[in-house]
Amino acid sequence: MLETTFFGRSVNAHTRPATAVAYPLQFPTGFLWGVATSAYQIEGAAQTDGRGVSVWDTFSHTPGKTLGGATGDVADDHYHRYSADFDLLQSLGAQSYRFSVAWPRILPDGAGAINQRGLDFYRRLVDDLLRRGIRPLITLFHWDLPQALQDQGGWENREVAYRFAEYADVLYQALGDVATSWLTLNEPKTITTMGYISGVHAPGIQNPARAYVALHHMLLGHGLATQAFRARFPQGDAHQIGASLNLSPVYPADQAPGTAGAVTLQDGFENRLYLDPLLRGSYPADVVAALGAHWPSAATIRPGDLEIISAPIDQLGVNYYNPVIVTAGPQMVTGRYLTSAASWEIIYPQGLYDLLLRLTHDYPGIPLAITENGAPFEDTLDAQQAIDDPQRLAYIHDHLLAAHRAIQAGAPLREYHVWSLLDNFEWAEGYDQRWGIVYVDYATQRRYLKRSALWYREVIRQHGLVQP
Ligand code: FCB
Repeated sequence: MLETTFFGRSVNAHTRPATAVAYPLQFPTGFLWGVATSAYQIEGAAQTDGRGVSVWDTFSHTPGKTLGGATGDVADDHYHRYSADFDLLQSLGAQSYRFSVAWPRILPDGAGAINQRGLDFYRRLVDDLLRRGIRPLITLFHWDLPQALQDQGGWENREVAYRFAEYADVLYQALGDVATSWLTLNEPKTITTMGYISGVHAPGIQNPARAYVALHHMLLGHGLATQAFRARFPQGDAHQIGASLNLSPVYPADQAPGTAGAVTLQDGFENRLYLDPLLRGSYPADVVAALGAHWPSAATIRPGDLEIISAPIDQLGVNYYNPVIVTAGPQMVTGRYLTSAASWEIIYPQGLYDLLLRLTHDYPGIPLAITENGAPFEDTLDAQQAIDDPQRLAYIHDHLLAAHRAIQAGAPLREYHVWSLLDNFEWAEGYDQRWGIVYVDYATQRRYLKRSALWYREVIRQHGLVQP
């Protein structure tokens, strides 16, 4: 089954090239090389220039919620250092930069009065990027919901979907003259499962019934924000909108009777529950049946909602980190496979190939962008102030190789973004996991390019995969 080696260890399947790769492995003309970040994870300046409070401020300041009590108060201080960070971005040759806007900087109370200083900040970001020839890819919502809206029920309140579309429209109006590429939601699955079921993320709720109500309203918010986008920028002009989903191909852990069925259902929970409403205008019947009383009633999922949710999008953002492996239980298998420093991140590049091909076949016609892919490993700054990170480099290399194979096999993949530009606030994990291709010394806020960044720079320069 999933067996091979990574760094000499016998592990889960790993597509280190079996046959020699002809380097540099060219990517199609127009393919975009990027890196990704999100607002709360890097900006800091939590109380600067009129920013309101988000659920992640509240959550991270609640004792016991994050590793070591870490918060995003300072993070990478990117709010004040963005220009130097963009110098780095430019030195890498990055062609696309995916970042998110902090809703509470724009609407400190979630709705109503607009905070001009917040808008000005993002205008400066966008203008600076464009001046450097870097395409901004703007995520509207990467988890930092205004606390004022959470106080009104957050995503469990249908009204919040409408507030989201209004917020989105403020940004379309302020930045849409020059910014053409947009994403509505980042990873509704993570909010559903970790924000509302396990409760290890903000808003820290542990209630499956409430989780799926919140999910429906997030998706409704996506649809309404997409409609608002279309009202300003008709489909077919240069403006593009989509959403980023974290998707995981699901594999059987064994051949036991019942495992194949468990794989199908788990696939519903990992993938179809998000893909089907967005791209087919329906919720997957098997998942709905499995959820039984936890699935929202007709009072929540109203006639017409799924039409709004499935408003046509221009591209699908794919965040790929790991496969999911299940037994008949259905039980997710962990502990048996090689992971990065994040224990959930089973390393399996073939999964990216399988996922991209599956999307191509099951959801045809939608251009694909990898909006996140990367891994944390132990990084140490050596005496020469260099960081040698062969495992991260191999992780990115092998995933790009899988992406290339998928393109050859017909996947309409147009963009790739490494997660992340900078080491940053990794949510409940605080600052322990370093996901950047740029190392951040948090004591001094100095940045150091890791070897993976130098290697990625060469990939971009050659517009193709180069030797690790
Ligand atoms: C994704 C998130 C991103 C980051 C990476 C490691 O789930 O979208 O913010 O935390 O994982």
